[in-house]
Amino acid sequence: MAATYSPAREAVSSLEGIMALEENFLLQNYSRYPLALHRGKGCYVYDLKGRRYLDLISGIGVNSLGHAHPRITKVIREQAGLLLHTSNLYYHEYQGRLAERLARASGLKRSFFCNSGTEAMEGALKMIRAHGNSINPEKHEIISLEGSFHGRTLGALSITGQPKYRKDFEPLLPGARFVPRNDLEALERAVSEKTAGIVLEFIQGEGGIYPITEEFARKARDLASRYNALLVSDEIQCGVGRPGTFFAYQLFHPVLMPDIVIAAKPMACGIPLGVIVGNENAASTIKPGMHGSTYGGGPLACRVALEFFDILDELLPSIKTVGAHFRAKLQELKRKFSFIREVRGEGLMIGVELEFPGKQLVLDGLENGLLFNCTHDTVLRFLPPYILAEQQVDRAISTLVKLFKRAKPPEM
Ligand SMILES: Cc1ncc(COP(=O)(O)O)c(C=O)c1O
Repeated sequence: MAATYSPAREAVSSLEGIMALEENFLLQNYSRYPLALHRGKGCYVYDLKGRRYLDLISGIGVNSLGHAHPRITKVIREQAGLLLHTSNLYYHEYQGRLAERLARASGLKRSFFCNSGTEAMEGALKMIRAHGNSINPEKHEIISLEGSFHGRTLGALSITGQPKYRKDFEPLLPGARFVPRNDLEALERAVSEKTAGIVLEFIQGEGGIYPITEEFARKARDLASRYNALLVSDEIQCGVGRPGTFFAYQLFHPVLMPDIVIAAKPMACGIPLGVIVGNENAASTIKPGMHGSTYGGGPLACRVALEFFDILDELLPSIKTVGAHFRAKLQELKRKFSFIREVRGEGLMIGVELEFPGKQLVLDGLENGLLFNCTHDTVLRFLPPYILAEQQVDRAISTLVKLFKRAKPPEM
């Protein structure tokens, strides 16, 4: 039976009151952890009782500059007092400037702004379809990877390589084909004249923090060029500074250029913003009237993202060094605790694969003031804010040692 709730103010400002209210009135699609957050500062968040937690998940990779960053708070305040929304009927000062900034960071040319990752994926899928159709109606297949995650809308779900997300919503888009990550031969077999696009996460996020190999990425680039298909890099989780470069495709030398990059999460520090950036060839698939958004690229989100990019320039080196420090410390733990199978990742995108499900460790972390989560059942995932300091890593490692000492594989 549904829990009872009281609308009294005191009741909804307690965890139990909030939980009861949500159980009565929200779609029951989330299974939240038992924590209600009230405020944040830097890399810390505080619950309703004022208890502090070190935030190593940052709202699943969104709070890139932590919480209440003074420069972000200042521009949000200023812009809220000036102009929040224009629609795309009119110009404002920030959208073109942000597009120019993204062109410099990505090496690609033209941007389209939207409000979330899955929306960016949908737009990229439309570009792939329009590209294929402009050549031949048979050219409609889209190749993506097993274990990938590209979003929850129907198009993005269609190319998400995890059946558990797709099964309740079939039939989905026809023409989606999945190949195992890093399997060069399977990729070669899957691509043909019918292929209109290849979509990759250079580091799979929800799938368990798995990087793809340089060889595989270069093969995808070669095949996309050979068969006149668009190569899309989904950098919603692995990009925009998180790997220690602006984008994950820039980790390889010489840089391997996709035709389209899509990004979202960290770009506006918690204000919803997604983007598709394409080269001229990809961008030319969209003609006037073929795509649009009411909210996308509004003055608030774009101004915040510009401020974020200014700050990011200075943060990239420390993302690399603090991330390397974090991974080195986790490798030390792997030598101590035999149930740790592997430590993976780049920059501040880190996964620790265990021999058993990680959910209990996440709950134990929460009890001990440390926030991280678990993906793909057995992979502890760390997506901390880019401002994380080495001392904070060391504190987190001490807590993890304590949790790992007590960890017991669940009864089989
Ligand atoms: C790689 C990737 N693509 C797409 C998405 C969907 O983004 P959103 O939840 O903003 O729609 C996610 C979200 O986690 C993601 O990790």
